[in-house]
Amino acid sequence: MRATSQPVIVRSHTHFPTIRTFSAWTPCVARHRMCKYGHMSNRFLLRDALAEFPPYVPGKPPASAPGLKPYKLSSNENHLAPLPGVADAIADAGRVPANYPDPKSTKLVADIAAHLDVDEAEIVPGAGASEILSALTNITLEAGTSVVYPWPSFEMYPILASARGAEKRPVPLLEDGRHDFPGLVAAIDDTTRLILLCSPNNPTGLSISTAELDGFMAEVPAEVIVVLDEAYFEFATDAEVVDGMAAYRKFPNLVLARTFSKAHGLAGLRVGFGVADPTIATALRQVIAPFSVTSTAQVAAVESLSRNDEVLVRAKDVAATRDQFAQDLRNAGLTVTDSQGNYVWVSLPDDDAQDFEAACAAQAVAVRKLSGGVRISIGPDEALDRVREVATKFAASRTA
Ligand SMILES: Cc1ncc(COP(=O)(O)O)c(C=O)c1O
Repeated sequence: MRATSQPVIVRSHTHFPTIRTFSAWTPCVARHRMCKYGHMSNRFLLRDALAEFPPYVPGKPPASAPGLKPYKLSSNENHLAPLPGVADAIADAGRVPANYPDPKSTKLVADIAAHLDVDEAEIVPGAGASEILSALTNITLEAGTSVVYPWPSFEMYPILASARGAEKRPVPLLEDGRHDFPGLVAAIDDTTRLILLCSPNNPTGLSISTAELDGFMAEVPAEVIVVLDEAYFEFATDAEVVDGMAAYRKFPNLVLARTFSKAHGLAGLRVGFGVADPTIATALRQVIAPFSVTSTAQVAAVESLSRNDEVLVRAKDVAATRDQFAQDLRNAGLTVTDSQGNYVWVSLPDDDAQDFEAACAAQAVAVRKLSGGVRISIGPDEALDRVREVATKFAASRTA
């Protein structure tokens, strides 16, 4: 209960007097707690819930090893140089840093809408798909609501759910790394406001089929928003993979989250977008900070989209390398999923995954150990060759 009382002047550690209203909950001002991730909380009246937020752990940079060029295969970045016109557009836009960007990303929105053959009102640009996902949690979740998502999947999902104070309902993936749709349906109840799906799934790489999504959507209440996170869809080559746009046209409560970070190789500029029913799109625009997509990001995305055919050719090249690399690792004796992203997933017990990551680091290649395995982004041949060698020795040492 928050009792009221008279304001008092107190001296803060900065020596400027500040006015605070002391009340029955004052004791928490003095409470200093260390959360399990080592943060101090509540010294400054921060939310208690922060202590329970799962941390976002970014992919590690590569360790240095004498005589070896370092490679980072830990963040699913695109290792190819930007397309020529894109590099020029970035250089031009960077010349006028004093002006705010177009807050509506007018040209980018128009081009995406034309490209996807939807109305401009259905396109919401943001600083990466991350901002779209964050906005989706912002317009749907609060205390007393729940969000359902597969797990393991993109690490931001539980962080964003925690940020909104919603109940997290992670549904374990099936043994083979695919979404457990009956499990996801069973996790939905009348508190559920948001469902997140990821195709291809990060980190397992497996994607959702059209039949799976159709069957699932038939079970979800029509007013509950379902997000299909398609950050990696350009790399998918399996004919069964759901076509997000076709699904979007069928289901008004389906929202697509897409990005220029992966196939378009613009992760450092931060630009992505949502495709949503205009009512949902309007709500998303309400919570996204103005000017979040920089001028440079806007022109780079416009230019890259105009070269989408080239982007797709490159994505399919990456996919071909991925399939060969996955097969090589299988031949070496590892268990590797049929990934549809720009990465492969090696299933390993946690201790082995740790050792594998360390063995790659010793070769100046950063890969990503996660719960249940190691994720390796597709990178230059030299980097993949080093991982192949590590895999061969590693598998041999495990069978010796
Ligand atoms: C599945 C998935 N969704 C969304 C994102 C966010 O991408 P960005 O914010 O760079 O657009 C990522 C990034 O790695 C991802 O793996």
